[in-house]
Amino acid sequence: MCGIVAAIAQRPVWPILLEGLRRLEYRGYDSAGLAVLRNPSELACVRAVGKVDALAERIGADGLPGLSGVAHTRWATHGVPAERNAHPHIASDRVAVVHNGIIENHAELRAELQAQGRTFSSDTDTEVIAHMLDVQLAQGISPTAAFHATLDRLHGAFALAILMTDAPDHLFVARQGSPLVIGVGIGELFAASDALALLPVTQRFIYLAEGDRAILTRDHWTIIDRQGAAVERPVHESTQRADSADRGGFKHFMLKEIHEQPRAIADTLEGRISEGRVLPAAFGVTAEARFADVARIQIVACGTSYHAGMVARYWFEDILGLPTSVEVSSEFHYRNPVVSRDTLLVMLSQSGETADTLAALRMVRSRHPDVPVLAICNAPESSLVRESDLVLMTHAGPEISVASTKAFSTQLVSLALLLLAMGRVQGTLSEEIERRIVAGLEKIPALAQAALTHDSAILALAERLVDKQHALFLGRGVMFPIALEGALKLKEISYIHAEGYPAGELKHGPLALIDENMPVITIAPQNDLLEKLKSNMAEVAARGAELFVFADERTALASEERLHVLPVTSHVGRISAPIIFNIPLQLLAYHVAVLKGTDVDQPRNLAKSVTVE
Ligand code: G6P
Repeated sequence: MCGIVAAIAQRPVWPILLEGLRRLEYRGYDSAGLAVLRNPSELACVRAVGKVDALAERIGADGLPGLSGVAHTRWATHGVPAERNAHPHIASDRVAVVHNGIIENHAELRAELQAQGRTFSSDTDTEVIAHMLDVQLAQGISPTAAFHATLDRLHGAFALAILMTDAPDHLFVARQGSPLVIGVGIGELFAASDALALLPVTQRFIYLAEGDRAILTRDHWTIIDRQGAAVERPVHESTQRADSADRGGFKHFMLKEIHEQPRAIADTLEGRISEGRVLPAAFGVTAEARFADVARIQIVACGTSYHAGMVARYWFEDILGLPTSVEVSSEFHYRNPVVSRDTLLVMLSQSGETADTLAALRMVRSRHPDVPVLAICNAPESSLVRESDLVLMTHAGPEISVASTKAFSTQLVSLALLLLAMGRVQGTLSEEIERRIVAGLEKIPALAQAALTHDSAILALAERLVDKQHALFLGRGVMFPIALEGALKLKEISYIHAEGYPAGELKHGPLALIDENMPVITIAPQNDLLEKLKSNMAEVAARGAELFVFADERTALASEERLHVLPVTSHVGRISAPIIFNIPLQLLAYHVAVLKGTDVDQPRNLAKSVTVE
């Protein structure tokens, strides 16, 4: 999703802005732009469709001198990807605006401005902001007053960074519904939609709260909250390192992140389990008290996080007998879900900034203030974490590739910790079962490491899939969500149309699609559903499908003509199986995408963090 970087410094800011944009590339974008105040009264702006490299080329080796600037990567919402729609948007060479989010009342504001004789050069909602500011500046209104008056009229979601030639030593920023962080340097200040963008220049950050506006000079900041009062916000020292966003020798971030899973899982477990038990401190003592009265769990999430929630539903109902439902955030918050007071709402999100997930949280908050909300999230300073009662951080480290991998594995491990804590508090889990589950969790990093060793065999399977138009993934029980996740990974990054189905639904539709051109991928753990799955495999094989089976070694399934069996593991249980079987499916999607030559880390039309609906 769009990215913002801004700076007011004592040195030329264009290299800082360009590097920041590069570090935000993972969010997904289709064009980029940068504006600086060249001298107090002159704005210089360069924009380009495509990658940040194209923008850098336009800027040229001499750069764009200027001590303050705003920059942006755009992901089209209003108006096609085109240079005129790229940010910054400029009005009268006096105002430059970069914006993330959507101004919902832009049409009305645009009509008003047009009636005043303003002409627009883009199709974006953002341009109204530049004109609104400029109209007021032309009337002699001060930049600060114009900034507040303009923002007061905007409805919707926005993060903004604004330069005005009338206030050459100021940078104006705001956050409402889209993330924005201020970076504190020595005699220089920065702003960005993700702290990651600023790590080369600072590790000190101020996380703006919802509705905050801020006015920055080189060494001073004023933050005004949504009530209009000046407020202090703490400066956090980040533990992230500048190189945490580097590929570390891997060809793509996705491959690096797939390989980081053993460590990420171990980090997520660290300090939370010991001597066969989950530690009360994992969720906090107050959390355990709140778990006591929970009679049902409602999980809400999007994308890959939603699939993690689906896996957990099998676990919670099967192992604890605790009624659990899972729903995609965009559906949940637009209907009237029944949320009883004895519900625990579990919000799953890698980024903690997904617009629909936040909207779901806020909807429950306003209608059911007594319902406890647990966020399972990978971004400690995210909106989701700040707005939830209870938090369990996944310690996956920054996930850059749009296609989520290590976040999913660590979410599953975190959900397993929740199961243990819940079972203990409610007395639904015997000490013996808790001990066995904990022992199983401790083995997952090594099992994940072993699953990664199948890389070359998976590459060979990928070669057979690369020319296909479609693929069907089948799984039963807890492997049904893994089939969905496998299909999602393949479609996201290789653009092959893929569907995940519960194998038992085969005869209710998808069987009609089967012929020799439809590869079928199945996940075959050693469990009591194996015989049923084998029947489904026979059904598709009889209709000519080529089968790719990711199997437990104990199933004794063997490869034949048009039946490719990859023995993945032999030591997995109910909790570890979905995590481990998912890893070869990630690798399969990865290799198919590389063979097809797609942009693996930034697939077309997709964004890492979907901060607009
Ligand atoms: C986007 C990303 C997915 C991610 C989903 C949910 O679609 O491309 O990889 O699973 O958002 O994101 P979240 O940060 O809420 O887990």
